[in-house]
Amino acid sequence: MRVLVTGGAGFIGSHTVVALLEAGHEPVVVDNLSNARRSVLARIGEITGHHPEFHNADVRDRDAMKSVASAGFDACIHFAALKAVGESVEKPLLYYDNNVGGTISLLEVLIAADITTFVFSSSATVYGDPTILPVTEEMPIGVATNPYGWTKIMMEQVLRDVQDANPEWSVSLLRYFNPVGAHPSGLLGEDPLGTPNNLMPYVARVADGQLPRLRVFGGDYPTPDGTGVRDYIHVVDLAEGHVAALGTHSGDAGVHTYNLGTGQGSSVLEVVKSYENVSGKTIPYEVVERREGDVAANWADVTRAKSVLGWKTSRDLAEMCADSWRWQQGSR
Ligand code: UD1
Repeated sequence: MRVLVTGGAGFIGSHTVVALLEAGHEPVVVDNLSNARRSVLARIGEITGHHPEFHNADVRDRDAMKSVASAGFDACIHFAALKAVGESVEKPLLYYDNNVGGTISLLEVLIAADITTFVFSSSATVYGDPTILPVTEEMPIGVATNPYGWTKIMMEQVLRDVQDANPEWSVSLLRYFNPVGAHPSGLLGEDPLGTPNNLMPYVARVADGQLPRLRVFGGDYPTPDGTGVRDYIHVVDLAEGHVAALGTHSGDAGVHTYNLGTGQGSSVLEVVKSYENVSGKTIPYEVVERREGDVAANWADVTRAKSVLGWKTSRDLAEMCADSWRWQQGSR
């Protein structure tokens, strides 16, 4: 399949482009490089032996997107979005414009170009603070604690409505839990600008000596060791989930919603321990106040993805940490 991949130079996008190439598809990458490097394209080439076509464009640029889309595609996977929770609180309009506005603009272009299979990068954040665990896809959409989270909830709704109005459309909503790790080659990974907000990139920099210690946000949650529990998923497993969704639902009219996680929760301290084991480094930490907007625990019921997509994760926490550590140590 010829697949238009927006945000294809980013963290999850780049791994998905690799997975698409390895599965014999033909991805075309669109990225505005606002949080990605052009060198990622060459690295994708190094890993796969294929050099995907690349367009430096913003999804909100209708003319540029029209011109890309006019070449004809079987499907679109839409990753391009902003994702920093704190920044979204400070600049909500930037987030609504870029994420929601960008998606609307892209959908208009796709409708005009008759590209009707769409895979969307959603998030477990749409469940808000889940009352029952593990979370299944039937659970109601929750209340977001920040504008970033609201943009994911809104974009899902826009897509359900667009599918309703265009019944031939196939929309897959992939709700990611906590994507971490890196490509095992050490060539692709997450490279946050400034101090990382998310746990694993932060731990990586502490292990590397770039940051003095981890602050563990909350030690009094109702979890086995008192620290927050999340469903960490290796980014390569996640990337393969996109290929599976595309394979199953291309041209399959309807809205198809999936949790993509491992189905297993790990606490902050379990992540720290695992990272210490694989890196051989000590990770100093102190337990501090809870972070506003955090939930105690969130992990996925992945029954649907397993049974319908025939997809499941195969990389455990130790592998996620090992690949993150390899990437952290690599020179970029
Ligand atoms: C966060 C976002 C979520 C987004 C996801 C993208 C919030 C509230 N949620 O999820 O909307 O989709 O990133 O990857 O920001 N932790 C520490 N110390 C740190 C950093 C994190 O103890 O320095 C803890 C957190 O309290 C949490 C766990 O580590 O228990 C995971 O945090 P993080 O990696 O930021 O992910 P989420 O908060 O689950």
